[in-house]
Amino acid sequence: MKRKKITIIGAGNVGAACAHWLVVRELGDIVLFDAIDGLAQGKALDLFEATPVDGCDVSIVGTTNYKETANSDIVIIAAGLARKPGMSRDDLLEQNGSIVSFVTQQVVKYSPDAFLLVVTNPLDAMTYVVKQVSGFPKNRVMGMAGMLDTARMRSFIALELQVSVEDVSALVLGGHGLSMLPLARYSTVSGIPLTALMSPEKIDAIIERTRNGGAEIVSFLKTGSAFYAPAAAVGRMVEAILKDKKRILPVAALLEGEYGISGCYVGVPVKLGGQGVEEIIELDLLPEELAAFEKSQQSFRSLIKRLKI
Ligand code: NAI
Ligand code: 2OP
Repeated sequence: MKRKKITIIGAGNVGAACAHWLVVRELGDIVLFDAIDGLAQGKALDLFEATPVDGCDVSIVGTTNYKETANSDIVIIAAGLARKPGMSRDDLLEQNGSIVSFVTQQVVKYSPDAFLLVVTNPLDAMTYVVKQVSGFPKNRVMGMAGMLDTARMRSFIALELQVSVEDVSALVLGGHGLSMLPLARYSTVSGIPLTALMSPEKIDAIIERTRNGGAEIVSFLKTGSAFYAPAAAVGRMVEAILKDKKRILPVAALLEGEYGISGCYVGVPVKLGGQGVEEIIELDLLPEELAAFEKSQQSFRSLIKRLKI
């Protein structure tokens, strides 16, 4: 059986951590690409030299040449600047917009049938750029953010209740920014609603910490942003597609009428499988939740307007 080919554009913190996650699980052969000569090559060789230790039979190639990415099944786009303390994700818009636009043009020339999974921030706007530049169908262009935000919420709930992270389920929808929508009423511990286990004050504190989860890491690191949890989140999305798992996961997907919104990328629950985004699941949201969704839409539209695409 031929192994799948996964390209990662951007061999920085997120890209390299994604490569490691995917290699250890033998999900496919990896091409790691970066604009800086030597960076992807060095990290790829280091990762390859770990494969005998972990017993992973996959190849890992580092490159600055897009030709080597040809015929990828999935391309992860994690190229661009990360924020530093005091910056919002939106401050990265113009610079990352041109990087993402350029790399997408190159990627699609060589991998016209690939799924494109965007990580670069500001996430929802960058995913839209990739969709527009690639011209790919909407099931093949998606963004990762909700998986990370949901994982953060799950870990904070487990910490507070001193229970296994495995038993905690949560759901965070909306934009990957201030308009993020952590939904406590869709969060459970082994099927028990969170609201039966925690006071409203504790739940509010967890929601707030989840919204600020990215900034909390930036304030510690000072030189960049989170990468281990983001890479694990990307890895699970890749796995869902390559193994046709049909998982229900929060993904930044193009809305065309769902939730009363059209032409926007927003985090929503989707069925993720062999065809990519196979279905968008519409939940009945309360008026205050819909208002947060509306905020996600407004902030997305104002970013897209700034980009003039
Ligand atoms: P990083 O600075 O460690 O790595 C970025 C890499 O992109 C660098 O190696 C750089 O050389 C490369 N790059 C820049 N321009 C390029 C180009 N034209 N072609 C190819 N490579 C290019 O940053 P990190 O931490 O890996 O983050 C990457 C992006 O992912 C940032 O925009 C960050 O905000 C975003 N991010 C998004 C998350 C999400 O939940 N959606 C989570 C974590 C990070
Ligand atoms: C985060 O939330 C950087 O957006 C990324 O950590």
